[in-house]
Amino acid sequence: MRNQETLQPRPLLLLVDDDAQIRQLLNEIGTRAGFEVLEAADGSGAIEMLHRRHMDLVLLDLHMPRVNGLDVLRAVRAGGSSSQIALMSGAASVEDAVEAIKLGATEYFSKPLDIARVRALLERMRRQYEDRNSVFDSDAALAERLEVCGMIGRSPAMRELFSVISRLAPHARTVLVTGETGTGKELVARALHQLGPRKSKKLITVNCSAVVETLFESELFGHVRGAFTGAIADKAGVFEAANGGTVFMDEVGELPAGAQAKLLRTLENGEIQRVGSVELKRVDVRIVTATNRRLEVEIAAGRFRSDLYYRLNVVEIAVPPLRERSEDIPYLTAAFVRRFAKEFSKPITGLTEAAEERLVQWPWPGNVRELRNVIERACLLCEGHLLTEGDLARSLSERPATAPAPVDDEPPSPPPTAAVVQAALDGTGGNKSLAARRLGISRRALYRLIDKYAAAALAP
Ligand SMILES: Nc1ncnc2c1ncn2[C@@H]1O[C@H](COP(=O)(O)OP(=O)(O)OP(=O)(O)O)[C@@H](O)[C@H]1O
Ligand SMILES: [Mg+2]
Repeated sequence: MRNQETLQPRPLLLLVDDDAQIRQLLNEIGTRAGFEVLEAADGSGAIEMLHRRHMDLVLLDLHMPRVNGLDVLRAVRAGGSSSQIALMSGAASVEDAVEAIKLGATEYFSKPLDIARVRALLERMRRQYEDRNSVFDSDAALAERLEVCGMIGRSPAMRELFSVISRLAPHARTVLVTGETGTGKELVARALHQLGPRKSKKLITVNCSAVVETLFESELFGHVRGAFTGAIADKAGVFEAANGGTVFMDEVGELPAGAQAKLLRTLENGEIQRVGSVELKRVDVRIVTATNRRLEVEIAAGRFRSDLYYRLNVVEIAVPPLRERSEDIPYLTAAFVRRFAKEFSKPITGLTEAAEERLVQWPWPGNVRELRNVIERACLLCEGHLLTEGDLARSLSERPATAPAPVDDEPPSPPPTAAVVQAALDGTGGNKSLAARRLGISRRALYRLIDKYAAAALAP
């Protein structure tokens, strides 16, 4: 046997019987058939183990004191486990057999056991396990091949997106990337830079919702010494620093009015002016902007200049939400499972069919980022080699409220407390857009609260 194979996780077999001799016999047969074997001596122990781990096969005794085999079967099915279960019984009654089959038992053995039949079942289950693993492996491998600059997807929508990116990357000077939070807008911006002629030059990202309003112009265009209190030396802005390369302006919908006017001028004549200076400098940058707000709405509300919008929107790349391309979910999932299994050094190879179904059905308001976070958490919790519905349950238990995008720039009164803000950030894996959405405030308002609470925490 090659070394590689001995390291591969084996399928799991759980033996549930109050008779230690039967357990020992089946343990030997199971181990020889290539299973990792676990044992439970009573029904309640079995239920416990089945809630925690996916088993590839359970051999379950019907007649046990207190909690019997049918009770176990019922409890396990109610908990949504997709483990295959075969019942064994000394005094098999037709009623029990019928009930067991109704509850989804895979097979029914009478005792004394027909060992050849047990072996045949084990063999079948092991082959099923291997087939499924090879599907996971090929999903992950395909996902990797399709990865364009870290972007996974094989849905028609994503293929179209890849093709648009590769056509635009060589030429486009300004691109607006739109899409809901977590759809991969930043990855699109990076891909445009990577696949374009400026890839050896800098890509500088400015998160427009994270810059303090008063420092915005200095951040983008630089300043000269003495331009304002604290400007102790000349400083180049982002546009100068990225000259020849790409500036990625994330959350461009949050750009303050003053900076909007200056950005428009830069777009129109390729010039920038440091704060406090009269000198105009020429810069040559590709400008990629992104927003998860509908800029038309921002324009109608008077918060965004329409002339700037038309300049930025020469080419728009709209990244579709994950729920509109659910074909991608298995590929993304396979890649994330692989990544986190490796990161956490766990022998996780994939997920149960029920778990995968759950993921495909979920509406994913936080899109790919949310999927990644859910898989990360499930991998941390998982005790077996397949992620189960139970491992996902904590992340996917409540139906997410699809809160409307906040329009108001100020937090509602009273603003969420520090603890609530922290909980929202924890609950979204630190995703500020999503946290803000869940709190019903804008991202900018969230940043202000974070600053405020951080300052309060530091105060003596
Ligand atoms: N197609 C994809 N394949 C693999 N990973 C992806 C894909 N799309 C997004 N991701 C991952 O999801 C996370 C969110 O992506 P990204 O930051 O690009 O989203 P965004 O659209 O910029 O979100 P926001 O509007 O909240 O800023 C990142 O970890 C990114 O690597
Ligand atoms: Mg982003």
